[in-house]
Amino acid sequence: MTDVDDMAEATAAAAAAAAVEAAADAAAADGSARPRRPDRANDYDRFAEAYAAENEHNLVNAYYERPAMLALAGDVAGRRVLDAGCGSGPLSAALRDRGAQVTGIDASAGMLALARRRLGDDVALHLADLRERLPFEDGAFDDVLASLVLHYLEDWGPALAEVRRVLGPGGRLIASVDHPFVAYTFREPRPDYSATTSYAFEWTFDGRPYPMTFWRKPLHAMTDAFTAAGFRLSAISEPQPDPAARELFPDQFHELATRPCFLFFVVEVPGERRRTAR
Ligand SMILES: C[S@@+](CC[C@H](N)C(=O)[O-])C[C@H]1O[C@@H](n2cnc3c(N)ncnc32)[C@H](O)[C@@H]1O
Repeated sequence: MTDVDDMAEATAAAAAAAAVEAAADAAAADGSARPRRPDRANDYDRFAEAYAAENEHNLVNAYYERPAMLALAGDVAGRRVLDAGCGSGPLSAALRDRGAQVTGIDASAGMLALARRRLGDDVALHLADLRERLPFEDGAFDDVLASLVLHYLEDWGPALAEVRRVLGPGGRLIASVDHPFVAYTFREPRPDYSATTSYAFEWTFDGRPYPMTFWRKPLHAMTDAFTAAGFRLSAISEPQPDPAARELFPDQFHELATRPCFLFFVVEVPGERRRTAR
């Protein structure tokens, strides 16, 4: 199946799911029929538009997480980059604009449909789950960027093995995740720091709650997972938000600057990096 077929099927599936839900909502609203289908955790298809709109210009994504990922990636001109968990594609667009050859994957058809709208045909997009085999040849990429996606996975092993497989020698994985210290202090009573545990909460968009479940693990479990998958740790980063955000978000800026919420990793496949034509 081509990525175009993939996307057409994904978009149709997302539209069908939205139509079913709208019909169920309408029926439930007049009390005449079954209630809304039960909420599934992390159901990005249901809040794709709202999440993408929020992510586009907010402090945490637009002025902290995305600039940090781009700074860690550095010069990507001519590099083959996989945006893993690309969502609606804001990072893919920035990488493309910097001259990278970008491919995006995501498990949500709704998010991919938004990415397609943003990116047109410039970026190959695939519906794919990081917990499964990825639809790419060995060594197909020079870099994989995984923004805020690994913390949806209980076990990083299979995903990191696949990322390692699709990276060539010298290839880099650049990843951002919920900061383990912050995730650990999220609720009282605190969990056992040394255990991998899930935690649940709700995101609210347009007044409606959506259940989310994330996985937190201790820092050493993260670094161990990278090295067990064959990566060499190159950087652990706790960046500051973009200074431009100070005036835009005067109330929140100081809070984020003094209490970071994400942790960033650069890990590398041993070997010589592929030279890119300039
Ligand atoms: C917090 S959003 C981040 C989106 C994008 N990376 C960004 O920063 O704008 C997480 C994304 O990861 C995707 N995702 C969650 N679990 C996934 C999985 N197992 N495989 C692939 N994508 C996944 C979601 O559908 C969602 O688009």
